[in-house]
Amino acid sequence: MRCDIHFMKLRPFFLSVFLAGVLGCEPSTLSGPQKGSPAHLEAILTAIDDRALASGNPDGDWITYGQTYREQRYSPLAKINRSNLDELGLAWHLELGDRRGIQATPLAIDGILFFTATWSVVYAVDARTGSILWSFDPQVDRSKAADFCCGVVNRGLAAYRGALFLGTLDGRLISIDGATGRVNWEQETVPQDSNYSITGAPRVVKGNVVIGNAGGEYQGVRGYVTAYDAASGKEQWRFYTVPGNPELGFESEALALAAETWTGSWWEQGGGGTVWDAIVYDPELNLIYLGVGNGTHWNHQLRSPDGGDNLFLSSIVALDADTGAYRWHFQTTPGDSWDYTATQHIVLADLTIDGDLRKVLLQAPKNGFFYVLDRETGEFLSGEKYTYVSWAHGLDASGRPVERQGARYTDGRAHWVTPSSYGAHSWQPMSYSARTGLVYIPATRMAAPFANTVIQGPEAVNAFGTGHEVMASFAFDRATEMVFDTHPDAPLPGSATGELIAYDPREQRRVWTIPQVSQYNGGVVSTAGGLVLQGDAEGYLRFFDDETGEELHALDVRSGVIAPPITYLVDGEQYITLLVGWGGGAGQTMKHVDKLYPGSVYTFKLGGTEAMPPREDVIERPLTSEAFTGMDVEVGHGYNLYMRNCIACHGAVGSGGGAVPDLARSSKTTYDNLEQIVVEGLLAPLGMPKHDHLTSEDIAALRHYFLFIADSLRSGMPVMEMEGRITQMQQQALKAQRQKL
Ligand code: HEC
Repeated sequence: MRCDIHFMKLRPFFLSVFLAGVLGCEPSTLSGPQKGSPAHLEAILTAIDDRALASGNPDGDWITYGQTYREQRYSPLAKINRSNLDELGLAWHLELGDRRGIQATPLAIDGILFFTATWSVVYAVDARTGSILWSFDPQVDRSKAADFCCGVVNRGLAAYRGALFLGTLDGRLISIDGATGRVNWEQETVPQDSNYSITGAPRVVKGNVVIGNAGGEYQGVRGYVTAYDAASGKEQWRFYTVPGNPELGFESEALALAAETWTGSWWEQGGGGTVWDAIVYDPELNLIYLGVGNGTHWNHQLRSPDGGDNLFLSSIVALDADTGAYRWHFQTTPGDSWDYTATQHIVLADLTIDGDLRKVLLQAPKNGFFYVLDRETGEFLSGEKYTYVSWAHGLDASGRPVERQGARYTDGRAHWVTPSSYGAHSWQPMSYSARTGLVYIPATRMAAPFANTVIQGPEAVNAFGTGHEVMASFAFDRATEMVFDTHPDAPLPGSATGELIAYDPREQRRVWTIPQVSQYNGGVVSTAGGLVLQGDAEGYLRFFDDETGEELHALDVRSGVIAPPITYLVDGEQYITLLVGWGGGAGQTMKHVDKLYPGSVYTFKLGGTEAMPPREDVIERPLTSEAFTGMDVEVGHGYNLYMRNCIACHGAVGSGGGAVPDLARSSKTTYDNLEQIVVEGLLAPLGMPKHDHLTSEDIAALRHYFLFIADSLRSGMPVMEMEGRITQMQQQALKAQRQKL
């Protein structure tokens, strides 16, 4: 008997095979359409409906960004486990070409991977062979890279009823036909010619696609989340996270109340509060939880001069899943002044607390405190430091931080504060293991100086490093007096390291810690096989014992890793896939492996026999030998321009560079063509934006600055002496500029 393979359109794949078996179909039709064919892709994606999304992936797939609606990133698979890691081998490896950052979590559905890479490009790949079935490039304008803060990255897709949903770097939401990779519909979710961007993954909630945005560092950005009908793309609702201009009226009662916590004319800068990562749906309570970001400006005094908590910045906000109406909020950092976003990964769990089973939400935001909240009401259940924190002593009974004196840097001096604006934990997803009850947090140890002696207007030395006028409080005059943190646990100024922390959320304590050489490492997954998996800056995918933290195994993936691994089943076999591509906010400015390989996908399984691609010996680009001939005032001017326009992508000059080149190590031809590259946009198609506001004099000053650094490093000048000279040079340049005005 032959079967009608149209079951495949109606039901999950495993069910159609089961039905085919019951009906006694011939083996050739049992398997349905050929794996990887458009009919197969259509069938498996059509099967992703509300019920499948709520099911928690029972057949070993990975069908949503956070693996299930609970976003625990804990796999119940145990075929790969502590006893057989030495049998793990490469199934295949695929190079994607581009050498910038890859942050995405792939979706794995019936043996097909769907993922995003650099510049929001989407791929559908056969998980058994690594062959590309289709790819889709949404054609983000490469020359606009300077409008986006943290690399040309994207964190992933949502799947629903035959379609895939993509948020592009330039702020569009695109519905893609999953069978062919063609566009179904496209919506501009942000105003065009603005500084909004999207790096986060959309989530599907009851037939709506919910998407946030990013860009709270920039002028005119006011955060919001929008829901669009998945089928038509029609807007259903929008929730703003910060109040707008009161004269125009507030969109809701909640925003009218929020406005009472702001002072001054905050709306002129936009306010910030973007939801650039965590958007989590809770089917049990019909709520959506948002993680809300930092304010514009970072500095509370500049943003809201007469004080106030500034709701809903740095908060977790719960919305009604049908209407987007406000339900409750919990603010982690009232009146934030350090870029302590609460956008970080939110995990839903049920924990027994004081004998009662509570529905909770777990978050380890940038501010360094771990929170357990009742997710029905937003009630604070507990919170403790999960790392060294200098800005607050602790939390009071309501969860409000008790701040340390000086943390708000209001006295004209520069205060070293921990965590830095990178946070103690950023977007890299953590994992909550149902096996151990522990949360595994990919964390950062780093302090940074904050000061309110911000240089603004034409003299600004740093507008978040990319030429925009609003920004960061670390944009201070180098002659500012420094206040160091002398606590023995404080990270040393300038040091930036990482740690993988196993944390017990019930007892609010660390269980074990793995110290790491870099601040920037990959997201985490844990499994029923007793494993915690994480890729790191040194270019290894490491396997840890989930109870002890012992490193059991490591696989060489050559480039630094920032994305989280996933694990899933294909034809009954357990696979592990990891996207590798160094870059992103911190990765573009520094690195821990010397060679940047093209973005790659690695897939491992037990008995995998492919040879691992070799890690080549590399010679770091040497410092240029071009002679330095500039005057101090020119170097100082070049330094100011660099801090204002270039540092966010190129990092500290002389340090070696990350995914973007170190400008003390360029070729003579590059220095000779600086004006074409920087002003005329010669490399714009490669993501090096045109800076046509710079004059020939500016370009000459930048060149002098690069050659001064190269010359000083070559001659072995001590770092402190070099820093001191730059401070003097900056002061000369600022003085000259003031005289000119
Ligand atoms: C939005 C990120 C970004 C900003 C901001 C930026 N760059 Fe670049 N730049 C890049 C990227 C990416 C490349 C590498 C392009 C490639 O693949 O060759 C690059 C390459 C270059 C190169 C070629 C270097 C070499 O050795 O090959 C020069 C010179 C350069 N940039 C100068 C500047 C200067 C000067 C500024 C500030 C005025 C600046 N860039 C700001 C991203 C940026």
